[in-house]
Amino acid sequence: MIIAKTINEVREYIAIWHKEGLSVGLVPTMGYLHEGHASLVDRARSNCDKVVVSDFVNPTQFAPNEDLEAYPRDFEHDCQLLEEHGCDLVFYPSVEEMYSPNAATYVEILDEMPKQLCGKTRPIHFRGVCTIVSKLFNIVKPDKAFFGQKDAQQLAIIRRMVHDLSYDIEIIGCPIVRESGGLAKSSRNTYLSVEERKAALVLSKAIFHGEKMVSEGIIDANKVIAEMKNMISAEKLANIDYVSAVDGETMMPVDEIKNGVLIAMAVYIGKTRLIDNFIVGGQK
Ligand code: PAF
Repeated sequence: MIIAKTINEVREYIAIWHKEGLSVGLVPTMGYLHEGHASLVDRARSNCDKVVVSDFVNPTQFAPNEDLEAYPRDFEHDCQLLEEHGCDLVFYPSVEEMYSPNAATYVEILDEMPKQLCGKTRPIHFRGVCTIVSKLFNIVKPDKAFFGQKDAQQLAIIRRMVHDLSYDIEIIGCPIVRESGGLAKSSRNTYLSVEERKAALVLSKAIFHGEKMVSEGIIDANKVIAEMKNMISAEKLANIDYVSAVDGETMMPVDEIKNGVLIAMAVYIGKTRLIDNFIVGGQK
């Protein structure tokens, strides 16, 4: 596996692969890789000739009060996992390589979409995500890029950005990977104590309950959300940021459950903010 730390190195390999007529898949990550990321790499492996994974904790998507410094990092372990899953090149740039000191250009969706759900408490987050993903697209020039459905709003925003900016890249959303108890895999799970990890099961419990209500034919979104919130509130270590039903493409709130509606939540377990979701009728 190639480890590339500079934009130029990546571009050189990509140029060779493109000349050879090989397709390139990109899996953007912030490292501290787990089975969720591995499933994206596997999907890319089976879809593309060459698989590039970026491993970069992107500072522009963290607000000053967030966990940029504390965000877990373990590049050696990441490389081991990536080798095992057949990654061809890992792009591991420094912050200085990605952002020159006077960088002042951002990619931002200027409507309500990034202000919904996570955007309510993380107002600069999606601007940072769009900017870095856009830079990665320009550096790697992938044919396909792979993102997890766990970050449902991020996935919808990236699809929108790709459409609005006419990127010739296919965006592939991949299913949430869960631990055996149901907890969605996340690098932030590492922050949880033993007691918090148990408490965190309330997120997936509420997701499964919401899915069951929907499968029973309940179409009143507010009823489903209210029951899910009640369930979460019963857990004393849990603090709800939001539990919402929104249109799966625009992220705008809806009252009626139908196919394509996204039911999403962010919940603090102690100090750790976790997210989870499901899409009515399954992912497209
Ligand atoms: O989902 C993530 O890990 C990040 O938001 C991403 C897409 C790699 C951009 O930094």
